[in-house]
Amino acid sequence: MSENVTITQDEGILTLVMNRPDKKNALTDAMYGAMADAMEAAQDDKAVRVIVIRGEGEMFCAGNDIGDFMVAASRGDAHEANVFRFIRLLGSGTKPLIAGVQGRAVGIGTTMLLHCDYVVLADDAKLTAPFATLGLVPEAASSKLLPAAIGHQRAFAMMAMGEAMLATDALAQGLANEVTSRDGLDAAVEAAAKRIAALPPGAIQATKALMRDSDAIAATMETEIEIFGQRLQSEEAREAFTAFMQKRAPDFSRF
Ligand code: COA
Repeated sequence: MSENVTITQDEGILTLVMNRPDKKNALTDAMYGAMADAMEAAQDDKAVRVIVIRGEGEMFCAGNDIGDFMVAASRGDAHEANVFRFIRLLGSGTKPLIAGVQGRAVGIGTTMLLHCDYVVLADDAKLTAPFATLGLVPEAASSKLLPAAIGHQRAFAMMAMGEAMLATDALAQGLANEVTSRDGLDAAVEAAAKRIAALPPGAIQATKALMRDSDAIAATMETEIEIFGQRLQSEEAREAFTAFMQKRAPDFSRF
């Protein structure tokens, strides 16, 4: 359980809200754990037809909590963290996933969208995946899924160079189904969730399974997790995390 994740269920729709707005919904280990627990339970729960992921406040999600990254790096236990349980469930889950995104979506805030089956963006949504600029590598199979979706060069600009993708570009490039006004986001997400929840669940889940190569996704995730764990303990990552905490630009000139 985490007080920073609000979980509700209504008419077949399980809604997970990242609820840590003072930290821009940066995800802690406890938050990943709460979301993973709910997603795991939903897999065998016939009452759940669709899972919706939202973020409370001005932005969807600022990615992994950087303080947690530093703790995991110092303990060297990143492999056991709830983040990887959550990531693996994104790839293996059978229930349809919907996201409604306002403002910034950073790191896993963006890569989780690649596992969603329906994505609604507010017109102020801004997607970033700044892994290499943090001394890290992409996760959640995004090293394969993002280039496959938008092409190598645009994916490199995002994941290696930290460039952002705006809502209208994300829509044009097939990363989202709809762009709405910020005020219209709740209603658009609810309408999509209700539409999917009303469909025949067996056919929906079988269709999703056919569309997603879950074995290949799982294999990519495991490779990434291995390298991510090494990068987490690198001097480059330490400099990037320390710079964030000290509210200064990182300096990679000595590497
Ligand atoms: N981990 C830990 N704390 C975070 C965080 C993160 N990923 N993202 C934001 N926060 C914290 C800030 O440290 C700040 O805390 P403080 O009020 O105690 O100083 C608070 O949330 C507000 O963030 P702030 O940076 O002031 O908000 P902003 O609107 O100016 O910028 C972001 C928002 C998301 C652009 C910026 O916070 C950011 O770049 N965060 C890091 C994103 C990131 O690299 N995530 C990891 C990806 S793998």
